[in-house]
Amino acid sequence: MGRPTSRELVHRAIQAHTAIPSFNIPYLPMMSPVVRALRDTATVGMVTAARVEWKQFSPGSPRELFAAFEAYREEPLVRLHLDHIPVIDEDGERVDYLSYLAEALELGYDSIMVDGSRLPLGENIAATRAVVLLAARTEVAVEGELGAVLGHEAGPPPPYEELLASGQGFTDPDEARRFVHETGVDWLSVAIGNIHGAVAAATRNQPKVQARLDLEHLDRLREVTGVPLVLHGGSGIHREYLQEGIRRGIAKVNVGTSIRQAYEAAVGESVEAAQEAVYRVTLWTLEEELQVAGSAAALGICC
Ligand code: 13P
Repeated sequence: MGRPTSRELVHRAIQAHTAIPSFNIPYLPMMSPVVRALRDTATVGMVTAARVEWKQFSPGSPRELFAAFEAYREEPLVRLHLDHIPVIDEDGERVDYLSYLAEALELGYDSIMVDGSRLPLGENIAATRAVVLLAARTEVAVEGELGAVLGHEAGPPPPYEELLASGQGFTDPDEARRFVHETGVDWLSVAIGNIHGAVAAATRNQPKVQARLDLEHLDRLREVTGVPLVLHGGSGIHREYLQEGIRRGIAKVNVGTSIRQAYEAAVGESVEAAQEAVYRVTLWTLEEELQVAGSAAALGICC
């Protein structure tokens, strides 16, 4: 049996009522402690970075991330994902998203994300469809986003309790049904109360608000979309909501801020100390927060 694709692993995760954690590494030395934590707990996971992280934290590119991952290419537990390539970015600028994503396909990424969520529905569908078509000749899974997972913008986010109570920016189920049907996307990132940790210089070091999830809304989205759902903003969500969300069909969870802040807090001492801090937070995330540690057996991955 060959190496299962990321698409296959995410499908297996749904069957097994677990989720694949995807760790954002804006600084390349974060990759090795994340992989070590996945290995030490026999957990299937992804490593990734988003364009906004190369703008805000440490310059990078799909090529550099891919090159850093070379050392782990044969690692059965870990896959490489390209996160958030926006069509319109957090500063309102148009991005040549197709070149980034075509490069990632060429390089051999396992999965990629196009983020058209700042576009009107029809344009998001068209942009996402274009990426699905681009990837169609490969085994690479495509993630799209519908709804507003806030937090990456420069300005202050709206007060969290208001956002949750009003459902502002939540993924609309009718739109989600149409989006999935018309794009053919593999995975859908949804907004159900989750927010991204801040990346703007003024706020990036602040503790993240403890988000909650509208689980009934999640159920409706699961029902109408029929594709694996992705939860962005995975750091710092109340544990009961996270774990219940996974039980109800979230198949991939993105985690960035908690490990990035751990790295930044310790890197002044040394890179090794920062890597150790990332390792500890990753372990805690896998074992305590998401409770996905040891998923390899349930996902049919042997090491
Ligand atoms: P957090 O930084 O809030 O964990 O979110 C990460 C993420 O969703 C990246 O796409």
